Amino acid sequence: MTVTSPSQIFAGRIGRIEVSATMAVAAEAAKVRAQGIHLVDFGAGEPHFPTPRHIKDAAIAAIDANFTRYTVVPGIPDVRKAIIDRHAADFGSDYGIDEAIFTTGGKQALFNTVQILIDHGDEVILPVPYWVSFKDIVQYAGGKVVLLETSEAENFRITANAIEHAITPRTKAIILNSPSNPAGAVISAEDLERIVHVAHERGIFVLLDECYVYLNYAGKPVSGGSFTWAKEHLVILGSLSKTYAMTGWRAGFALAPKAIIANLNKLQGQSTSNATSFVQKGAIAALAGSQECVAEFRAEFIGLRDHMLARLAVIPGVTCTRPEGAFYVYPNLSAYIGKGGIRSATEMATRLLRDAHVVVVPGEAFGTGEHVRLSYPVTRENIDEGTRRMKEFLTALA
Ligand SMILES: Cc1ncc(COP(=O)(O)O)c(C=O)c1O
Repeated sequence: MTVTSPSQIFAGRIGRIEVSATMAVAAEAAKVRAQGIHLVDFGAGEPHFPTPRHIKDAAIAAIDANFTRYTVVPGIPDVRKAIIDRHAADFGSDYGIDEAIFTTGGKQALFNTVQILIDHGDEVILPVPYWVSFKDIVQYAGGKVVLLETSEAENFRITANAIEHAITPRTKAIILNSPSNPAGAVISAEDLERIVHVAHERGIFVLLDECYVYLNYAGKPVSGGSFTWAKEHLVILGSLSKTYAMTGWRAGFALAPKAIIANLNKLQGQSTSNATSFVQKGAIAALAGSQECVAEFRAEFIGLRDHMLARLAVIPGVTCTRPEGAFYVYPNLSAYIGKGGIRSATEMATRLLRDAHVVVVPGEAFGTGEHVRLSYPVTRENIDEGTRRMKEFLTALA
C-alpha cells in the first residue's frame, strides 16, 4: 500500500496537539531578526539572570570528577533528598525519598504525570487563562480538557465553588498553576485549601504546577504540599528553571504518593532514563545551598513588574490585571482589536512583530482572544523602548 496523506503516516495522537505557541513566536521573531531588524523581545518565558555561581561550580566539579555516567532513573538519593528537604523546610510538606523523582525539567514531570493518570475520555479541569502546554499534554494522552472560565475583573480568581460546578463523574484531575503563567494570578491559601478539600473528598487528583511558587509577590509562597491530609490526591510539579535561573539545565521534579512516583519512574525508565547526571549535582547545590539568590531574583522581578505596569498604564485603552507572581503581564488589548484590520490577538501579535518590532505571545495560546502576554525579565531600557513602540503602533491604529 502506498502511504499518501499525513493521516496515514502519523499516529492520531500527534494530530491532537499543536506546535507550542511560545516556540512558534520565537521562530517568527528569529526570521525578522535575520533581516537585521532590532526587536524588543517580551516573548521568552525565562529569567535574564545567569545561573548563580555556586550551582555552576557544583556541576563543573561533577564533570571534572567524571560524574558523567548513567544514574538511577529517578535521580540519585542525594538529589531526591534535597528536593524533599527544601519543600519540607519551605512549605511544611512531608514526603519521603520514594515519593520524589528528579526529571528533565518540570515539563517532563507534568507530561509523564498526565500520561500515567489520564486515560481516553477522562476529564481534566483547566482554569482559563492556562499555560499553553497543559491543554496539549492532556489531549496527547487522550483526555478531555474542561475549561473553567474565570473573571478578569476578579484577577482571574479560581474558587472551590467554580471547580465544584465543573466536576462530573468523569473528572479525573484538576490542573492548577499558582502563580500562573500567563496572568501572574495567585490562588490564595484559603481558596487553595478549599479546592484541595473538594478534590480530595471526590477522589480527584490535583496537579499543582509550582513552577513559579517562589515568585509570589502577594505574600509568603503557598504550596498545596502543606495540606498533608490530601497527599493521596496531590501531585506537586516542581521546577528549578525559574527559581534558580536554570531554564537550559532541564531540572524539575514531582512529589507524589509512592505508587505515582513508581509509575513515573517506570515511564521515565522506558523513555529518557535519568535526567543528566551533573545537572543533578547542580540541582543539589541549588536546593541545599544558600537561598539568597532566590530572594534577590524575586526582589528584582517585583521592581520590573512595577516598571512594566507603569509603562503600560500610559497607553490609552490598555488595561491590565496586577500580576501577583511569576514574571508576565497579560494586558487586555480589546480596545484595539477590530482596528487597522486586526481581528484577533494572534493578528495583533503578528502586526506588533512586523510593524512595531516587539515580540509578544498572543492570548489565544492561553485560551483568551483579547490579550497578549509580555514577559518582563529584560532590562528597564527594553521595557521603556518596547512599550513606547507598542504605544506608537496602537495609537496610530485608532
Ligand atoms: C506554568 C509552567 N509550568 C511548567 C513550565 C516548564 O518548566 P521547565 O523549564 O521546568 O520544564 C513552564 C515553563 O515555561 C511554565 O510556565
